[in-house]
Amino acid sequence: MSLLTAPPANRIMATQLFTPIARDLVAVERILNTTLESSRPGVDQLIAHLGYYKGKRLRPALLLLTARACGGVESAHHTLGAVVEMIHTATLVHDDVLDSASIRRHVPTVNSLWGNQASILLGDYLFTQAFHLSATLDDVRACRIIGKATNRLCEGELHQITCRGRLDLSEDEYYDIIDAKTAELTACCCKLGAMYAGMPDDVIANLTAYGQSLGLAFQIADDLLDIEGVEAKAGKSLGTDLEQQKLTLPLIWLLENAPKEQCDRVRSILTATGNHKREALLPELRSAGALDYARSEAESHAAAACAKLECLPASPERAILAMLAERAVHRDH
Ligand code: FPP
Ligand code: MG
Repeated sequence: MSLLTAPPANRIMATQLFTPIARDLVAVERILNTTLESSRPGVDQLIAHLGYYKGKRLRPALLLLTARACGGVESAHHTLGAVVEMIHTATLVHDDVLDSASIRRHVPTVNSLWGNQASILLGDYLFTQAFHLSATLDDVRACRIIGKATNRLCEGELHQITCRGRLDLSEDEYYDIIDAKTAELTACCCKLGAMYAGMPDDVIANLTAYGQSLGLAFQIADDLLDIEGVEAKAGKSLGTDLEQQKLTLPLIWLLENAPKEQCDRVRSILTATGNHKREALLPELRSAGALDYARSEAESHAAAACAKLECLPASPERAILAMLAERAVHRDH
């Protein structure tokens, strides 16, 4: 399947939001398709499978909408849109290995079809292609910013993995992890969008902060989805954080605030063998108000993101960036 195939019905709304950058997204797809072409048998199959992995293209869209809200899209933005999408796809391919996930975007994961070894190498292939592509801009700024962001992203995942099983993980540590593993890349997209539109430093800083708060809101909502989402709607394996004892905001909050008996019950569910932690923990998290707490945190990060957009004059693209922050919290996939 081509990376250019039409999006499924459940993405129509996102597609409508992206109308002002529709042509730019087509340009990004073209770059993705040309860069990732391989005639080597086997490799071409793995790359073709990524066509089924096509998501909302949120990261290139963020970069392009930021650029348009700042005054205009240049050809460098198209190249950078393809770069951030390749990096994001690489992280998902690797993440599914770490999570032993079997479904991503409604289709079997690369690891479930080809195994972990091919998945790691495919992730590396995407990642190195992304760096090679960003180097074609002949501008050290892009490589430096992308290098720093991906470095932090890996550090965030490493941090998360070393905290596995730690039932005393604090909210600050959780924020440090999601700031690195998710918000750093969304911030990087907005930074590149604004920088390559020639914005002054203060505007670039505000839009980077927009991307960072949006990323935090997005990841908290994603972690809520892991606990209370429906796999058929989300299109990916859920409950993996709980099975792997990767504590996220609702559980951290419960273990810090609920009465001792409830905390003891929750700790014993988390450490028990077997794979039904989600079903057992959901009522505990609901009754303690932990899910509501996490949702309200996500909402305040979304509001903080919107406030940072005030540095720009009103425009349809600025309004869409604000809507994206709101949708990051209220979604089922
Ligand atoms: C999804 O988190 C994963 C990430 C946001 C980052 C994953 C990063 C790596 C695995 C490091 C590898 C990096 C490179 C550059 C190749 P999640 O598991 O909470 O979300 P999910 O529900 O979508 O799986
Ligand atoms: Mg995962």
